[in-house]
Amino acid sequence: MQSTLLKKKTQKTIIKVNGVKTVFDTRVVHDGLNLHINEGEIYGLLGPSGCGKTTLLREMVMLQKFDSGSIEILGHDLSGISMDAAQDLRKNWGVLFQSGALFSSLNIAENIALPLEEYTDLSPKMIDEIVEFKINLVGLKSSDALLFPSQISGGMKKKAGIARALAMDPKLLFLDEPTSGLDPISARDFDALILKLRSLLGLSIIMVSHDLQSINDTLDRVAIIDNKKIAYEGTLDEVSSVDNAFIQTFFKGNYE
Ligand SMILES: Nc1ncnc2c1ncn2[C@@H]1O[C@H](COP(=O)(O)OP(=O)(O)O)[C@@H](O)[C@H]1O
Ligand SMILES: [Mg+2]
Repeated sequence: MQSTLLKKKTQKTIIKVNGVKTVFDTRVVHDGLNLHINEGEIYGLLGPSGCGKTTLLREMVMLQKFDSGSIEILGHDLSGISMDAAQDLRKNWGVLFQSGALFSSLNIAENIALPLEEYTDLSPKMIDEIVEFKINLVGLKSSDALLFPSQISGGMKKKAGIARALAMDPKLLFLDEPTSGLDPISARDFDALILKLRSLLGLSIIMVSHDLQSINDTLDRVAIIDNKKIAYEGTLDEVSSVDNAFIQTFFKGNYE
């Protein structure tokens, strides 16, 4: 109910990707890629392995440069953005990459506290309170705070990663294949968490996924990358009913 209201009220575009081209050495990964993401939606980037999903995510969060075209986030054009403006803009999002592991030498609480210690002047007591709140928000227990990454399950690591990504109360959350490597129960648990966080915090979530169940249960709109471009963009229903062999194979889950 809440998320329906949210979606109806806000159809503001928060990310616009226009004609993006990405070249690594001589290999063209994106060539004229266009998409737009609306506020409050859970948006999926889909496509076969190696089609450039992670690269696009990294470009959106300014971890990687693209060669031409433009990306606009929250009204800011990323091309030619100043260092100061970039630093401010980064505070609006949290990211959880596939390889975005927790620091193994820090416990869960210390991992989540890291961005707060780095980017804010909050007192240690305030940071402790925020960390405890985030730990509970993602469904971990307060008593998990002192455990180290080697002592927790894959599902708990993902939750701790989300808690760290949410440390600074971002508006946007970028996730790269968050359920890959999780057992089915943990994966569904993670999907439920994503839906809960969206309705509770009004987040916009941009997610790369291969997980068909997760795609069906969580995504509002999707973009499918094929042949260096967006082959299809639309609601899950629209895209999955497109009469095209590539798309149909894709949604049957044996496209790789
Ligand atoms: N830093 C890089 N240098 C050179 N090639 C890269 C780099 N990052 C990605 N690539 C290449 O770009 C293509 C897309 O990669 P990636 O975005 O990781 O795909 P996906 O996430 O869709 O599987 C792959 O061929 C990959 O090898
Ligand atoms: Mg990838």
